[in-house]
Amino acid sequence: MKQVVTIEELRRSRAQLEPPVGFVPTMGYLHAGHISLVELAKKDCATIVVSIFVNPTQFGPKEDLSAYPRDIPGDLKKLKDAGVNLVWLPTPEIVYPEGFNTWVTVEGMSEPLEGAVRLGHFRGVATVVAKLFNAVRPEKAYFGQKDAQQVAVIKQMTRDLNFPIEIVVGPTIRESDGLAMSSRNSYLNPMERKAATVLYRALSAAQTAYSAGERSGETLRTIMHQVIEAEPLAKLQYVSCADRETLRELDRIANGALLSMAVFIGNTRLIDNIVLHATNNK
Ligand code: PAJ
Repeated sequence: MKQVVTIEELRRSRAQLEPPVGFVPTMGYLHAGHISLVELAKKDCATIVVSIFVNPTQFGPKEDLSAYPRDIPGDLKKLKDAGVNLVWLPTPEIVYPEGFNTWVTVEGMSEPLEGAVRLGHFRGVATVVAKLFNAVRPEKAYFGQKDAQQVAVIKQMTRDLNFPIEIVVGPTIRESDGLAMSSRNSYLNPMERKAATVLYRALSAAQTAYSAGERSGETLRTIMHQVIEAEPLAKLQYVSCADRETLRELDRIANGALLSMAVFIGNTRLIDNIVLHATNNK
């Protein structure tokens, strides 16, 4: 497994890779959710490139940039074991050299939900992913359904800017009790870790109501709200029942609607979502 830091090194190594090249962008502190994207990429790509870069421009001033968990040696071992060919570890100075002044803003679906409570977040995400795409020039890029709004934003950006890249989405990987895997789960103390299952419990309660015939968006939002409220360590930031592409809230629900939420467990902010389906299979 080759490691590179600068864009020049990356371009030289990239030129030698056998196509199709699959790319998995990450911020590191890798877990089974990230590795599942590598495994998905291995199914249809000859070569796998992973980037590890904690992107400062997608963090707000009061967010956890400096505290964001990091473990480069552990990450490299996991990527090597997973059969990754090339890892790119750029520094902030490489991605954002002095004088950097170009931003990618995806309008519409960037604005509600995460975009409304994390101002500028998706501008940072779209800008860095555009830069990573330009540097790596993969045939396919892999993103997790865990960040459903990010998927919608990246798909729109890829279309709008004519990146010749296929966006592939992998399912959310969960712990056995339903908690979606996240680098931020490492912030939780044992009591909070137990309480954190409330996100998936709330989503599952809404799916159960939907399976039983409930079609009102308002009612499904209320069901999720009530499950979260019953957990003393949880503080709800938003619940949503929206179109999975436009992220607009829905009054009447059909298959494929996106249920999503952001919840504080103590000081840790967690997000989760499911796409509603006709039966109650997981
Ligand atoms: P990061 O949070 O490190 O996630 C990297 C990729 O792993 C994303 O596509 C994310 O959706 C996916 N992922 C995270 N947890 C997952 C889980 N439990 N199951 C499946 N996939 C999961 O998302 C980012 O980094 C950044 O915003 C990035 C796209 C790298 C741009 O900076």
